[in-house]
Formats: sequence, C-alpha cells, structure tokens
Amino acid sequence: MEGKIVSWDLLESHEVNFYDKYNQIILKRPVSQIVEEYVKKRQSKRKGYLSEIQQKNLAWMLPRPKPDRYKGGMPLYAEEWLIDLGRELLKDESPEILNLFCGMNKQGFRIDIKSEVKPDLIADAHTFAKEMKGKTFNLILADPPYSDEEAKELYHTGKLNYSKWSKECDKVLVEGGILIVYHKYLVPNPDPEKYEVVKRVFIGNRTWHLPRVAIYFRKKITYLRGSMHHE
Ligand SMILES: C[S@@+](CC[C@H](N)C(=O)[O-])C[C@H]1O[C@@H](n2cnc3c(N)ncnc32)[C@H](O)[C@@H]1O
Repeated sequence: MEGKIVSWDLLESHEVNFYDKYNQIILKRPVSQIVEEYVKKRQSKRKGYLSEIQQKNLAWMLPRPKPDRYKGGMPLYAEEWLIDLGRELLKDESPEILNLFCGMNKQGFRIDIKSEVKPDLIADAHTFAKEMKGKTFNLILADPPYSDEEAKELYHTGKLNYSKWSKECDKVLVEGGILIVYHKYLVPNPDPEKYEVVKRVFIGNRTWHLPRVAIYFRKKITYLRGSMHHE
C-alpha cells in the first residue's frame, strides 16, 4: 500500500473499487482520466484567481497605433489576435468571418456604414442582415463606436442600439458560432438564453488610457438542448 495512495480525497472519491489480493488499489477508470478530472474539480472549487470562472479571462498589452491611424482604431495586432483566439475556440482554422463596424480592419467580410473605409458592404449595422442573402458566419468581430457622442464626433454617424445590432448579428451567426464585441465597457450578454460568455480579453495599450475588453459570446446549439429534453 505504501506509496500507492496519491491522496485520501482520491480514495474517498468512490473511484476505488476494492483492493486485490496483493493489496493493490483497483481503479474503476484509467488513472489519467481520474487525476485530470480530480485536478479540475479541485481547481473549480478553489476560490480566487485560479477558479474556473477566472480562467475565462485573459489580458494582453498591445502597442498602439496601427500604421493606418484610423480614428478610434484598434491597437496593433488586436484584430489578428482576437480572430486567432476565435479560431482556437471554434477549433476551426478557416471560419467564415464577419467584420462589423470594420473601419480599417482587414479580415473576413467587412461591413461599415462609411464608404471611405472601402468595406465589402456599405450598410447600417442595425439592418444589414437582410442584405446578406442567406449568407452565414461562424465568427463575428464587432468594434462599434463606444458612445453616441463618439459616433458623432469621430465618424459623423448616428446613435447606436446594442440590442438591435446584436439581433442582426444573431440572424447571420450559426449555432456554435462566436460573436466578439470589442468595447470600452463590459457589454451585457445579448441574450443569456441563447449565448454564453466563453472568454474575455482585457487589452491595455498605453498609460492614462482606458483598457478595452473583448467579450466572446458563443451561440448555444439548440439541437443539443432540444435532444436532451427528449431524453
Ligand atoms: C471604432 S471604429 C472601428 C475601427 C476599426 N476596428 C479599426 O481598427 O480600424 C467604428 C466604425 O463603426 C462605423 N459605424 C458607425 N456607425 C455604424 C453603423 N450604424 N453601422 C455600421 N457601421 C457603423 C464607423 O464608420 C467606424 O468605422
């Protein structure tokens, strides 16, 4: 027995069936599987910065500005890294990407209300879905102006309604897909019934400048919810 007991917690966790005739522990499942789950369970019980809930959060320091120097533009690498993280979470190397409020962002299908940023579609974020002709996306990156004042001052554009434009995103986002909202504020979940927060990235860039936060909302898969109901 000596040296074979990893932890009393483990022994008491009902993973042990019985001892065999040589007094060896017989485990119900492969030891790697048990230990992995056990560590996870211990971590999720742990309070503070190591808890499972805190593991969703990331922080980056990114330099500024991008060479295009577009007003209110993202820091250097932000678009690239945010989308790369989206790919990783989706486990999809080439997702269909929608870049909403694109400004000078480069990747995927770009939508902006201003023609000067040469988007793929010039459209208002509040009503763009009807112009997509059934096209859907797995990853949406949205970088709206942070306030009505900022919209007016920086871009001469109108007031924004988060609930309305996020509903438009919902129309073109596939189930299991991710909506990333990049903002100065922690924006609310557009619909907690439909979406769950899977990641938050806090981004700092220079002193005396508010950090930004990109929240990753994953659209739940209703088929799975439905099939569980039938069980
Ligand atoms: C914060 S900037 C995006 C900056 C961009 N991520 C970059 O790094 O270059 C917000 C953009 O939203 C656009 N915009 C403002 N109101 C809009 C609306 N209602 N629909 C679509 N685009 C809008 C503005 O023209 C501006 O380009």
